[in-house]
Amino acid sequence: MNIEKMQEKHLKQVAEIERLCFVHPWSENSLKAELSKDGSYFFVATDGDTALGYIGINTVLDEAYITNVAVLPNYQGQGIGKALVDYACELCREKAMAFLTLEVRRSNAVAISLYTNLKFRQVGVRKGYYTEPTEDALLMTRYFE
Ligand SMILES: CC(C)(COP(=O)(O)OP(=O)(O)OC[C@H]1O[C@@H](n2cnc3c(N)ncnc32)[C@H](O)[C@@H]1OP(=O)(O)O)[C@@H](O)C(=O)NCCC(=O)NCCS
Repeated sequence: MNIEKMQEKHLKQVAEIERLCFVHPWSENSLKAELSKDGSYFFVATDGDTALGYIGINTVLDEAYITNVAVLPNYQGQGIGKALVDYACELCREKAMAFLTLEVRRSNAVAISLYTNLKFRQVGVRKGYYTEPTEDALLMTRYFE
């Protein structure tokens, strides 16, 4: 498995990962817009020409936000998600970010466990943030010294 910068050639497969993983998936066009957006860093976990997962980060000044992270269902539970989030943390360190933050469904035990293991802490709750089904978002943040 390799982690590389998201490029035009990945967009179709990444959009498919979105469709397989989320009720409200990002479109290929929304993903494409990230390629040229200031402060946006998207990475793809690949095996040869196959995209297995990806992560997106948006930054403003020294604040970083994970917009998406997802792994193809057949490849989940093999350490790819952890590798992607770890990669994002390293990038934030290099860029001297103050923190990296995200929202996650309260019921998403796998993701919450992944973030907790990587030193993210719950810092707040957004009531009823998600729809289909309606659910609270936990706000989780990792601070960098
Ligand atoms: C959340 C997601 C990105 C995690 O990626 P993954 O590749 O499946 O996760 P990993 O194999 O790297 O596992 C990382 C950690 O998750 C936890 N985990 C993984 N599978 C788990 C399971 N079946 N049950 C409980 N915890 C689990 C563990 O803490 C694991 O760490 P460990 O191996 O050190 O114990 C992936 O499952 C996914 O795409 N889910 C659907 C989309 C989604 O929910 N994205 C997050 C939105 S906030």
